[in-house]
Amino acid sequence: MAKNTTTGLFPYEKDAASEGPVECLGMTFPNDEARRTYFIEELQKKLKDPAFRKIEGFPIGEDEDILALSDPPYYTACPNPFLQDFTRQYSTKYDRKNGSFSCEPFTADVSEGKSDSIYTAHSYHTKVPYKAIMRYILHYTEPDSVVLDGFSGTGMTGVAAQLCGNRDEVESLGYTVKPDGGIFDGKTRISRIGQRPCVLNDLSPAASFIAYNYNVPADVQDFQTAARKLLERFDSAYGWMYRTHHKDGRPGRINYVVWSDVFACNHCQGEIVFWNEAVEDGEVKEEITCPNCEATVSKRSLDRMTMTEFDKAAGKAVQKAKRVPVIINYSIGGEKYEKEPDGKDLALLRKIANEPIPGWFPTKRIDEDIDLWYERDYRTLGIYSIDAFFERRALVMVSFFHHEIATHEGRLRGFLWFWFQSVLMGFSLLNRYRAKGYSQVNQLLSGTLYVGAVHAEVSPWYALEGKIHRLEVFERIRGRASIVSTGSTAGLDVAEDSVDYIFTDPPFGSNIIYSDLSILWESWLNLFTNTSQETVVHRRKKTGAFTLADYTRMLTASFNVMRKALKPGRWITVEFHNSKNSVWNSIQEALLQAGFVVADVRTLDKQMGTFKQVTTAGAVKQDLVISAYKPSEQLEKQFMLKAGSEAGAWQFVDNHLRQLPVFVSRNGKVEVIAERQNYLLFDRMIAFHVQHGATVPLSAAEFYAGLSQRYAKRDEMFFLPNQASSYDQKRLEVREVEQFELFVSDEKSAIQWVRRQLSQRPMSYRDLQPVYMKEAQRVWEKHEKPLELRTILDQNFVEDKNEKWHVPDSKKDTDLEQMRHRSLLKEFQQYVGANGKLKVVRMEALRAGFKDCWQSKDYLTIIKMAERVPEDVIQEDPALLMYYDNASLLAGE
Ligand SMILES: C[S@@+](CC[C@H](N)C(=O)[O-])C[C@H]1O[C@@H](n2cnc3c(N)ncnc32)[C@H](O)[C@@H]1O
Repeated sequence: MAKNTTTGLFPYEKDAASEGPVECLGMTFPNDEARRTYFIEELQKKLKDPAFRKIEGFPIGEDEDILALSDPPYYTACPNPFLQDFTRQYSTKYDRKNGSFSCEPFTADVSEGKSDSIYTAHSYHTKVPYKAIMRYILHYTEPDSVVLDGFSGTGMTGVAAQLCGNRDEVESLGYTVKPDGGIFDGKTRISRIGQRPCVLNDLSPAASFIAYNYNVPADVQDFQTAARKLLERFDSAYGWMYRTHHKDGRPGRINYVVWSDVFACNHCQGEIVFWNEAVEDGEVKEEITCPNCEATVSKRSLDRMTMTEFDKAAGKAVQKAKRVPVIINYSIGGEKYEKEPDGKDLALLRKIANEPIPGWFPTKRIDEDIDLWYERDYRTLGIYSIDAFFERRALVMVSFFHHEIATHEGRLRGFLWFWFQSVLMGFSLLNRYRAKGYSQVNQLLSGTLYVGAVHAEVSPWYALEGKIHRLEVFERIRGRASIVSTGSTAGLDVAEDSVDYIFTDPPFGSNIIYSDLSILWESWLNLFTNTSQETVVHRRKKTGAFTLADYTRMLTASFNVMRKALKPGRWITVEFHNSKNSVWNSIQEALLQAGFVVADVRTLDKQMGTFKQVTTAGAVKQDLVISAYKPSEQLEKQFMLKAGSEAGAWQFVDNHLRQLPVFVSRNGKVEVIAERQNYLLFDRMIAFHVQHGATVPLSAAEFYAGLSQRYAKRDEMFFLPNQASSYDQKRLEVREVEQFELFVSDEKSAIQWVRRQLSQRPMSYRDLQPVYMKEAQRVWEKHEKPLELRTILDQNFVEDKNEKWHVPDSKKDTDLEQMRHRSLLKEFQQYVGANGKLKVVRMEALRAGFKDCWQSKDYLTIIKMAERVPEDVIQEDPALLMYYDNASLLAGE
């Protein structure tokens, strides 16, 4: 496969129908069919190797289903055995001697791009818009760089990587592309146009299948012809199932049927059709009047009416929730109509009830074969097996398409199922009816497998016809330099130092259990996520409970593999939704444990569409972007020689400052970069030592004094000399300084907050106190002992003879810090001496005490004290968690 160096685009090769020779991973094949046959045979051989099946996160399923889905080497529905060949082909060799790479973390705003038609072609439980990812890739890479996403879901990172070679897409971000391929943001050259090869991996076969279809080109025209033919064939065979009649007798085709659950009145036991009695103007009423006895009943108090049916999967008669059709929406020509079902419609449904299912369909028992985490008991709805999520007519229809699509070959088969799968869940009982909605397609309640009391059963034409045309946007997907793998990232076999940039969006805690939400897709693929490796916090009958500690451990294992794959000095961007502080800490801890250094944390301000820095975990519960780097080999080597010495610490700081953004301005204001402030530099320095098992050679006071002596200070930030001059130059153009928002939620933030007030002007206690009270009234961390303003002032600031409080000069600052440290240690010793659990603690005292114990290698005291405070105190504090994890590790050894 030759690279076109002008645009960096990899030439589009027509697939199965292609006549000409095809080059793939350094080999030439007479045509694409031969390529496919060769790699399928290779994969077949691999599947026979028992060690291959033992790779972490190997999906649950049979060889034949894996082979049917795979299109090797581009995609395998199991760990991809061709990854090493791929990186050998595309990765530029890491140059050990001159491998230094210099790039600041990306700090600009990123707009969302969620309405783009490629992005919306197939939904997923969470998704990052590829347009947002493109900005990151362009910032960190050039066209010959390899990109990796270990939790790739639908493969948006791959789409972004390949569309960096598409001029229109790049220009749609507001950049300009020069004739030589240079990409400019205003006057600044930021990158070069060209596709970036990309490695994608996800544990879920459903996700990796979507990613494959998003990333490997299909012949869109062939697809459109085949899809239209499929709908025609379905019409000939089963069009009768979707026929209804207008009042004048003209036949129409059903768009959708609204079904309602039926409840039993708890006074007269008469039937209450939910839609007729409980819904008014599309809203559900709390109180319902029984149409039979006129009693007023509340919806919650009602039981569903059931009917007995023989369930094939259960092999016995079961109780199924009774549902009745209440609305039929249909079309005659271009006109749409609605009616209540009449006698003929009901007779048709009775006929359909006995219609055989034309092909294979999934019958896995959800209470036995599948280990669902969601606790909703589907048995009360009469849903025992996967097929019961579909009305009979829908099941006949899905099975027909499943069977027909399987008769196609090669790339076309995959793309046809992608098209069908994109609306598959919308054919099930999960599809809610939205009376006021624009469309009834895919109206699922996101994040759950919720079956409502009213649902819309849509016809295949209604859901699929428009999509045939809309998928034309896939003409833009032309590159062949993405590779997709299925398994746990912890077991991913990518060559060391072969990747230039990682963008990833890890699963976040217990909010979303991806494998459950994909269960309908995976059931039809007959290939399932290996839930024993799913990096989430959950409880299951079979795989048992996964705690937050398991989540951190699994995440660390995956980050470790990603860190190894990344070239030294290169960047990882971790995007995720911060739902809980403990999860945010787990992610930070996992990154640290895996050997990354965090250099910037920002949150997306959804209202403003801008990114803000984040310094404390407590501040946000929204989308976060963490930028971290893999330390350069030089730093690692030199640090290990000097680990635990002052020289080692300053070596780290030199290096870290080099990685931080120098000047960030927004709307004419310069931003104070939190990572350049003394306390965060101190935290990062400590973390690096603890992670390397080294003692920390400097106290906070010594560190702060050293910072002022060694580095240039500007606007409360520290810089290397050349950075300071660059900052000064740019600073001339901007007058105002924008401080990041500070919330007083603990002692640390309270000190910063007071420092900020006093650096603007010295204040008396009396003036400061009311402002502080207002600020400190915000909630302190649950287990943190709130501190009086007086104590904060006494321990950190100086008072002049006019009783005004000031920020101390650096000499006095050092003295105060030493005194404060002694008093914190004294308080820690009191905790150690006391008995029993500690519900409320001074966190700074715990942090100081843990650091002191770490220095003296007293790991047992750290562990004992961690066990005496509430679990979330440790889980939600990055420093304490770091000491505790490392102490546990070393004490164990
Ligand atoms: C937040 S989603 C990623 C979504 C993706 N950014 C997108 O745009 O589609 C996280 C993904 O991690 C996957 N996952 C969970 N545990 C994993 C593991 N151990 N290894 C690899 N992937 C895993 C889940 O299946 C899920 O698709």
